[in-house]
Amino acid sequence: MKPPLSSRPPRTLDEGALKELIATELGRVRDRSLGLTTDVLDEAALTGQVSPLMSPLVWDLAHVGNYEELWLLRAAAGIEPMRPEIDTLYDAFEHPRAERPSLPLLAPREARSYIETVRAKVLDSLSSVRFDTGEPLTTGGFVYGMVVQHEHMHDETMLATHQLRKGAPALLEPPGAASTAPPSGGEVLVAGGPFEMGTSDDPWAYDNERPAHRVDVPAFHIDVEPVTNAAYLAFMEAGGYDDPRWWDPEGWKWRTSGRKQAPAFWKRDGEGGWTRRRFGRVEPVPPAEPVQHVSWYEADAYARWAGKRLPTEAEWEKAACWDPAAGRSRRYPWGDVYEDDRANLGQRMLRPSEAGSFAKGASAYGVRQMVGDVWEWTSSDFHGYPGFRSFPYKEYSEVFFGPDYKVLRGGSWATHPLAVRGTFRNWDYPIRRQIFTGFRCARSAETR
Ligand code: AVJ
Ligand code: FE
Repeated sequence: MKPPLSSRPPRTLDEGALKELIATELGRVRDRSLGLTTDVLDEAALTGQVSPLMSPLVWDLAHVGNYEELWLLRAAAGIEPMRPEIDTLYDAFEHPRAERPSLPLLAPREARSYIETVRAKVLDSLSSVRFDTGEPLTTGGFVYGMVVQHEHMHDETMLATHQLRKGAPALLEPPGAASTAPPSGGEVLVAGGPFEMGTSDDPWAYDNERPAHRVDVPAFHIDVEPVTNAAYLAFMEAGGYDDPRWWDPEGWKWRTSGRKQAPAFWKRDGEGGWTRRRFGRVEPVPPAEPVQHVSWYEADAYARWAGKRLPTEAEWEKAACWDPAAGRSRRYPWGDVYEDDRANLGQRMLRPSEAGSFAKGASAYGVRQMVGDVWEWTSSDFHGYPGFRSFPYKEYSEVFFGPDYKVLRGGSWATHPLAVRGTFRNWDYPIRRQIFTGFRCARSAETR
């Protein structure tokens, strides 16, 4: 029997059942990676670069295999390096994305055979790697969860590469799982008070989600749904891109020097309307969908124009996860267990679902679509929580801490359910738009 799509490894699973789940999820993520590369593209499309922001797809493919070799074969199973000479090619810190196409990368066929061999050895050694030695790397199968999540993250990155490509890749639109209801356009009040942020006991959580800690959050209002294309168009039509009052000074520089006038991939249709390019197809901008491909600066400007602001990371997580009646945080807005009919995750659709969808996925406060559809920009810089300890390596999170990155929450339609939860933190530069990102607004509650 196959375990349900995703979620965390239930803490009650014994080691054998956990290893079965790991093997299943390793297989699923590999099917996804191959579906985004070898099944849909020719050799040149795999080795070429569509944007200096992205790697050639064949780099992502071999990189996930090399990462798997480093962590699951060398670190967890103590197996000798297979091809130590290629490590440097696939080390993200040695070669920035722009440089990667000029490296002597493994050709697509070699890359596939390398990652397949790594995988065969991983499945072979899985039964002899012990999870009960007290070694944090393998406790709860952590390092396997880390590798599965890593490959899913690169799959989302590969989707962003496909989106940047001008020609349409042969990605088939899967049947939608839409469950639409009219957007309320409203907001809810989240009463002031402490809540528990982050996690200390999720076995597959990253270091940056730890430890759980109490944060006192003053009362605020937050939008029930993400900001839609229609709402964002109203900002554009009101001259929002031409009025420096709404923009952060750095954002205004970005807007003027890059002559930005609309979200990425949008174009005027010649009749006063707008179209967008989505995986190579040009279509009218759907008014009810959450806006995506906006930078933090655009989100911040919209919010100011609307008389609101972006939520802080703590506000976002409290509105998404805190259950005030139970006095505890949920793993997902709707509860602790992942279910497919609660959120648009996992690349089941190649787009966000309309605002107001997934009523069953609402949080305790009645906020919708916090998980899935579009990543959401928050106002917060990326920092470690009080008591943060880097694990298992500094280059996952710690080297990115500081004022350069803004935190994104909630995952997108392209995020696999295993690679997101209420506490999950993503981050990027405030100018970035190639990711599947939108936002929602908040405002402080009046105090008297
Ligand atoms: C967490 C999405 C910002 O893609 O740079 C991939 C994840 N870390 N390989 C990224 C990651 C190492 C990371 N993000
Ligand atoms: Fe990586």
